[in-house]
Amino acid sequence: MIQTVTLIPGDGIGPAITDEVVRILDSAGAPIEWERHDAGLTAVENGHDLLPQETLDSIERNRFCLKGPLTTPIGAGFRSINVALRKHFDLYANVRPAESIVPGGRYKDIDIVIVRENTEGLYAGIEHYIGMRQDPRAVAESVMLITRYGSDRICRYAFEYAIEHKRKKVTLVHKANILKNTQGLFLEVGREVAKNYADAIEFEDRIVDATAMQLVLDPYQFDVIVTENMFGDILSDLTAGLVGGLGFAPGVNIGKDVAIFEAVHGSAPDIAGKGVANPSALLLAACLMLEHMGQKETAARIRGALKTVIHDGDTVTADLGGSASTTAFSDAVIEQIATGA
Ligand code: NAI
Repeated sequence: MIQTVTLIPGDGIGPAITDEVVRILDSAGAPIEWERHDAGLTAVENGHDLLPQETLDSIERNRFCLKGPLTTPIGAGFRSINVALRKHFDLYANVRPAESIVPGGRYKDIDIVIVRENTEGLYAGIEHYIGMRQDPRAVAESVMLITRYGSDRICRYAFEYAIEHKRKKVTLVHKANILKNTQGLFLEVGREVAKNYADAIEFEDRIVDATAMQLVLDPYQFDVIVTENMFGDILSDLTAGLVGGLGFAPGVNIGKDVAIFEAVHGSAPDIAGKGVANPSALLLAACLMLEHMGQKETAARIRGALKTVIHDGDTVTADLGGSASTTAFSDAVIEQIATGA
């Protein structure tokens, strides 16, 4: 069955890498019909809103969206378009797998998934200044919002993900030793949820600072990590670093009805238009999307071809030490898909 997917090419290098990803998925026979819509700087340049209503309607209708990186113009009225999208569709889970692809790194065969709560914590954006004497900004205060509801749904999501992906362990990461109410509630709810899965999935909890050190010293002890918003933001960049950096970091923001797949990197204005961007992270995001749709075999073929091209090293982009263009790199992946088929 053909699935319609909303495609937001995005800004900067976004259109170039989305074009290549579409070409690669087509070559692999992925049963997808694309519905292109603007957002971000490109939308504004085309005379639309930053987040046009047609784009939102399309995502709502199709439920799947593949999104290139978006530039939020300074003074746009909100902090980030990505945050606005998460809020609009209540995309409460941010899932970021970190899997070794680049050869020659410090570690081989890393395979860790971070499940980050996406709507609460310090990133709920509840902050203000308090004036004192002559200084209107003498104090800045921010609220760490943790709810039982939000903690419950993200922990359940992590366990369900672990079961569906045949994972063995969920580690809940927190700072409940210091933030006894907020982080304490997250831990308390996580422990309750874990009881429902005790027969199938091992559960442990760890303090965030110790986790950061252990991820660097011995990452193999981790499988699925579930954590609140800010810790997830930081730790998922750390795990991306373990497998070669943001060039290989895909992510998905998931809500009850909608899933938006994206590369973790930004619009790279410094190399936009030069034809040298690496499409790998967005391609890996597209593979996550195919898996989510049940197209696991197609996703595996594409991922296998990408790995082969990177390991061969002859036709890779500059960020991977090569000199190939975005198009030449994608051609090599397409050729590999055809050979492997
Ligand atoms: P960035 O990720 O765009 O760039 C950081 C560095 O990595 C640059 O040197 C860039 O050339 C390089 N790079 C990034 N992606 C690459 C790729 N695919 N291939 C080769 N090199 C690549 O981060 P930066 O410069 O902080 O942000 C630029 C813009 O992107 C900002 O407007 C920011 O708001 C936006 N952004 C959007 C995101 C999204 O839509 N998910 C995420 C992060 C930033």
